[in-house]
Amino acid sequence: MDLYAGVGYFTLPYLIHGRAKHVYACELNPHSVEALTRAITRNKIEPGRCTVIHGDNRLPSVYRQFLRVADRVNMGLLPSCEEGFPPAVEALSARGGVLHVHGTIADNKTIEAEWAEKCRLRIQSLLETRDGGCDANDSAWQVQHVLCAVRTCVLGIMDNFVSTVCRCASFTWST
Ligand SMILES: C[S@@+](CC[C@H](N)C(=O)[O-])C[C@H]1O[C@@H](n2cnc3c(N)ncnc32)[C@H](O)[C@@H]1O
Repeated sequence: MDLYAGVGYFTLPYLIHGRAKHVYACELNPHSVEALTRAITRNKIEPGRCTVIHGDNRLPSVYRQFLRVADRVNMGLLPSCEEGFPPAVEALSARGGVLHVHGTIADNKTIEAEWAEKCRLRIQSLLETRDGGCDANDSAWQVQHVLCAVRTCVLGIMDNFVSTVCRCASFTWST
């Protein structure tokens, strides 16, 4: 699932090089949606492998189109993708998966760790209140792995951005 697909910076490599079976690509901007749709055709990607969803991923009418479909959710919105946490958690399949959280923060280990922990807590709380719920004491529901990687941002206005991978492995439903 590419929650902020733009013109396909992540969606296209997932499909072409990443051997993704299927990508759900959500994007708000109609011009980007058009460019992405054209790029899918020009790269000869079978139409059945990509579902392009035009809309605001925060709206239930939009995120209902990708409930429980994903084993990986990319959230490439800067400077923060926090508003995308609820739809991202809703998109994760019952087996769990990986959330790629992007954000811009200072290049400082303490700040980075605090930011990662804040993300982890928010995601954990969303998992616990998700429809069907989860048992907070069940270790299978915990965010199991957080990896921070600092990269130089292509936008000159920012020194760097941090991509955190919150791994939420093997969920079990409590219902
Ligand atoms: C920084 S761009 C990233 C695009 C692509 N992931 C990339 O790395 O090039 C963010 C994209 O998210 C879209 N966007 C922002 N808020 C959105 C929302 N609530 N729902 C869907 N798309 C959104 C913007 O229109 C923009 O194309």
